[in-house]
Amino acid sequence: MNPDTLANLRNLLLRETGLFFPPEKDYLLVSQVEKRVRATGAAGSDEYVRGLRGNSREFQELVNLLTIPETYFMREFRFLDLVARRIIPEIISGRGRASLLSAGSATGEEVYSLIMLALHYNLPMDKISLVGLDINTLSVERARAGIFSRFSIRNTEEQARTILEKFIRQTDNGEIKLSEELMNFARFVHGNLFRGLSGLGPFDIVLLRNTLIYIQPGLRPCVLKNLREGMREGGYLILGQIEITGGAFGIFNQEKIEGLTVFVKKGPLEKTNQEK
Ligand SMILES: C[S@@+](CC[C@H](N)C(=O)[O-])C[C@H]1O[C@@H](n2cnc3c(N)ncnc32)[C@H](O)[C@@H]1O
Repeated sequence: MNPDTLANLRNLLLRETGLFFPPEKDYLLVSQVEKRVRATGAAGSDEYVRGLRGNSREFQELVNLLTIPETYFMREFRFLDLVARRIIPEIISGRGRASLLSAGSATGEEVYSLIMLALHYNLPMDKISLVGLDINTLSVERARAGIFSRFSIRNTEEQARTILEKFIRQTDNGEIKLSEELMNFARFVHGNLFRGLSGLGPFDIVLLRNTLIYIQPGLRPCVLKNLREGMREGGYLILGQIEITGGAFGIFNQEKIEGLTVFVKKGPLEKTNQEK
């Protein structure tokens, strides 16, 4: 691929999705574009990339190949457990119901883990709503189908495994199909966190875990601001362990619950010098 084409592709992805691909990821861009060139019959990579600008369907196909739907049930269990055991009940006792968003839900394991935990703790499911949102349309479809491979059960913590065993049955070929009952509690939508929540919400709890890391550092505050706008006052933002060290760019209050760092939406957002 011509270096200018590569630079144009990087810019297009950044502008539309916030996703950034440093030079060491060039191989990924090149190989996935080549796949789409073969699939679409385009004359070559340069022509394919030129045609992407006016072709949102094809752009989506490429985004599906470039995003990493890496996830598994009960990932970073302590945070999920804290949400289900403590934060959801606290919100329900305060305002009667709790709405949750898994921002960057990939194939859905995060949402389904929360449902399993909520059932495990006998929470009132009619007072809880759970939405998973992802930019990858294939992942959204997979999440809705509720079929997983053994690879989705990787958490080795005993407590997490015991809870998972209550809800998960493997078929003879090792596949996992979730029950309709469990699946009915979840909703999965396609969306782009960089562009906002398209009218979803307001949410009491947002999980943004292992997703912000794929967004260009300078654009991460924009994603956090979009999420903040879709949250209720007093709502909780739960970041992935890898993202916590970056903080929440000063637009959430940082708190510790049971030794775990969470972020809380409190008060109006102060205007930046540029906005004043
Ligand atoms: C590694 S997965 C994390 C899944 C889950 N949250 C977890 O912690 O296991 C990251 C997901 O973020 C999604 N993603 C990346 N950029 C996004 C954006 N701008 N809007 C919505 N989803 C995005 C990717 O498609 C991918 O499925």
